[in-house]
Amino acid sequence: MLMNEDSQDLDLDSEDSIDFASEEFNDDAMDVTLDSADDEDLQTPVTPGFEQDKLTKARAKLALSARPEKLPCRESEIERIYDAVNKAVTLGSPLTMYIAGEPGTGKTACVTKVINRIQQEHDPKDVKYAFINAMKLSAPSEAYTKLHEQIYKTNKRTKKYNKKEQHKRLNDLFTKAKGGRPKPYTVVVIDELDFLVTRAQKEIYEFFNWPQYEHSKLAIIGIANTVALPEQLLAKIANRFQQTERIVFSTYSKSDIIKILNDRVQSLHAFEPRAIELCAAKVASSSGDIRRCLDVCRRAAEMVGHGKTVTAGDITDAYNDLLMNGMYPILEMSIYHKLFFLTAIREQHNMQTNDLSFEKIVGRMQTLIDMCPTKNLIAKVSIRELLPICDCLDAMNIITVTRSEAERYPIIRLNIEKEVVIEKFRQDPEMEVFINNK
Ligand SMILES: Nc1ncnc2c1ncn2[C@@H]1O[C@H](COP(=O)(O)OP(=O)(O)OP(=O)(O)O)[C@@H](O)[C@H]1O
Ligand SMILES: [Mg+2]
Repeated sequence: MLMNEDSQDLDLDSEDSIDFASEEFNDDAMDVTLDSADDEDLQTPVTPGFEQDKLTKARAKLALSARPEKLPCRESEIERIYDAVNKAVTLGSPLTMYIAGEPGTGKTACVTKVINRIQQEHDPKDVKYAFINAMKLSAPSEAYTKLHEQIYKTNKRTKKYNKKEQHKRLNDLFTKAKGGRPKPYTVVVIDELDFLVTRAQKEIYEFFNWPQYEHSKLAIIGIANTVALPEQLLAKIANRFQQTERIVFSTYSKSDIIKILNDRVQSLHAFEPRAIELCAAKVASSSGDIRRCLDVCRRAAEMVGHGKTVTAGDITDAYNDLLMNGMYPILEMSIYHKLFFLTAIREQHNMQTNDLSFEKIVGRMQTLIDMCPTKNLIAKVSIRELLPICDCLDAMNIITVTRSEAERYPIIRLNIEKEVVIEKFRQDPEMEVFINNK
């Protein structure tokens, strides 16, 4: 049976009423981070009577899947998100929010924390929640199915709706007034929002357009890495972002990272203070991604012997160990990927700055190819051909690419330690000639 408008309205009051599939908001939100086998090990129950040693406890606390009670250095961001969402939910007024920042700056963790608090403070009958990770969708249009699935009970009755009907039901819910029982408020989080952007930008437009309706009773919270994403969208969508509450998460500094790590493990006395400091310094000077710190510290805790305390030397070993593993992709990539990285290292050395000009790296790379004794073997490449190479290195987290509207070309930041890479390049027959030719 195809639903007409009236029957859909009736539907909301009937047994097919809005209900959420998942009890815990963070089920989907955080399973993005449950990617390490180590984390699984740590879930294994400990034999009663056997006291875990401080290193095992530390590893559990440093797991990406751990849910720390506090998120140090993000108190003001959490408060801002909470105030806006709580106000919207309490007043029943629409809200759009855009949260942006580099990877591993705590965006998903903060939003999850706020939503969990809102969940506890409001009657589940009055407020519904949905979490969509756009990166996990097979196509952006699947966002409607996911939303429909989470808003309505997935039962025999709702399963029968095809995609078009699901979309219509959502559209009616968020745009039309309804007599009878008041509609519940809906909070929708769209993580990795960049993945929802298609050429026509239909889905992203619709999600941010729904809260513009008077009767929407909807909060849309978008999370992405690109600060200027709204400005890169079509004008009609960029307009929708004008009233949007925007929050930018800055990269963690060395002292932030020390606070975050200490909050998790200081009481265990498993790490020497100097070890925490070194780990924070290393990561802060490259990506600032807190996940890396957690990985390095976990690895160090794994590598040292039972009952020992992790020292700065152990951190260096763990860092290099992870780096080596993480670096293999670049060693197996094309000569152009490797040359781009090598010239970026040299540019950083010369300029003594972390933010490198893409154009200057390309210029330097062309000169290197020109001056190479075997230059006939390697064709010159254009700036246009190098941009995808640069994006590929970014996707692998080997470099970070930042684009801004003011600049034609991106700014590049190196994420992995140059000494180790150079050492590996020296043993690479293809690269040897370039290493020796400055
Ligand atoms: N301030 C903090 N205190 C404690 N742990 C943190 C903090 N910030 C982030 N984390 C932890 O670091 C990990 C990464 O955080 P999160 O997933 O929120 O990053 P993100 O900004 O969403 O990154 P991405 O852009 O890659 O999605 C999580 O395990 C999270 O619990
Ligand atoms: Mg995230």
